[in-house]
Amino acid sequence: MPKKYRASVIGATGMAGQQFMEALIGHPWFEIISLHGHASIGKKFGESIRGFTSYKYPEEIKEMTVTDIKDLDLNSIDIVFSAIPSGYAREIEGEIATSKPVISTAAAYRYEEDVPIFLPIVNGEHYRILDIQKKKRGWKGFIVPGPNCTAIGLAISLYPILKKYGIKSVHMVSMQAITGAGYPGVASYDIIANVIPHIEREERKVMREIKKIFGTIIEDKIHDLEFLIDCKCNRVPSINGHMESVFIETVKEFEDIEEIKQTLRDFEGQTAGLDLPNAPEHPIKVFDDPYRPQPRIDLDNKGDEKTGMRTYVGGIEKTNFINGLKFTVLSHNTELGAGRGGVLSAEYLIAKKYI
Ligand SMILES: NC(=O)c1ccc[n+]([C@@H]2O[C@H](COP(=O)([O-])OP(=O)(O)OC[C@H]3O[C@@H](n4cnc5c(N)ncnc54)[C@H](OP(=O)(O)O)[C@@H]3O)[C@@H](O)[C@H]2O)c1
Repeated sequence: MPKKYRASVIGATGMAGQQFMEALIGHPWFEIISLHGHASIGKKFGESIRGFTSYKYPEEIKEMTVTDIKDLDLNSIDIVFSAIPSGYAREIEGEIATSKPVISTAAAYRYEEDVPIFLPIVNGEHYRILDIQKKKRGWKGFIVPGPNCTAIGLAISLYPILKKYGIKSVHMVSMQAITGAGYPGVASYDIIANVIPHIEREERKVMREIKKIFGTIIEDKIHDLEFLIDCKCNRVPSINGHMESVFIETVKEFEDIEEIKQTLRDFEGQTAGLDLPNAPEHPIKVFDDPYRPQPRIDLDNKGDEKTGMRTYVGGIEKTNFINGLKFTVLSHNTELGAGRGGVLSAEYLIAKKYI
């Protein structure tokens, strides 16, 4: 890689933004030029990090001052990573995209027909819609949002099955970690030793996004893949990782569970062969042990630097339905599901020479 891309991070102090930071620090292709926020404007990054992190930030990063987004000099940077609440993202990201690429974790632009819900492991080819986005809006830059964190593990685990057997229906029940709600997120009194059986707007987002993630670009739009999908989302007292119980009906018959396991194990994804620093070689880890995956064992207990970028699938069984299958899936909501996943998107776009 001949040059380092100069990056700004908006919302660096938050749950998703910290994962942008961790992925960008020491990255061979990026250097962090500026940090932007809201409540922490004027403070040092090291004093403003929200929540608890065991990550050891280098001194020079801790010493960086968080500034107002109005102070961002777009001529001095090549790319912006944004992890801010959707309500603010609409205006802020739109303005930056007039001249620079924006990789976002927010939902503000996800549902527009010229904007991909980008998950390069699954739908890397959707970057082709960006030419249309730029032309239609008269932008020199563009916006690439990642999916909702609950949709990500589901999309990655379904995709190899979809490709091989087709999917007739999907039902999903989630158990989502508290970091998914940002900081301070859910009140401690509400979540300790408890389960909250509703997450505002989450179910609608997941159902809508999965269909678009699997969609096809036809002319100037991304057209959804149509199949039956429904879900129920719960907040549970785990720290990291959204776990989901998934029930599906495939269109084509599968031989047996071993064949499904092998299909998931063999999956390499659209990031394969591009030599991207944050792409896991095998995006899906399959367990035979019915007690796995578990958030504490498989995510909090860091195995290697790609731990938070894999999708973990276990408990694969046939159901009583025709071509019925069930399994448990787990993925990291702020790593693959937000900041580090966003950095992988940027790596993919660089590899495709789009940035
Ligand atoms: N948490 C997850 O698992 C997850 C996963 C996928 C996507 N997301 C999405 O990522 C975004 C951030 O979520 P989060 O969970 O990281 O939230 P968070 O922990 O509450 O952090 C919010 C961040 O946004 C900054 N911010 C707030 N208002 C701003 C403004 N007007 N201008 C500039 N910066 C502003 C905050 O900076 P200060 O600290 O300086 O106020 C903070 O760094 C949301 O859109 C969320 O939906 C989150």
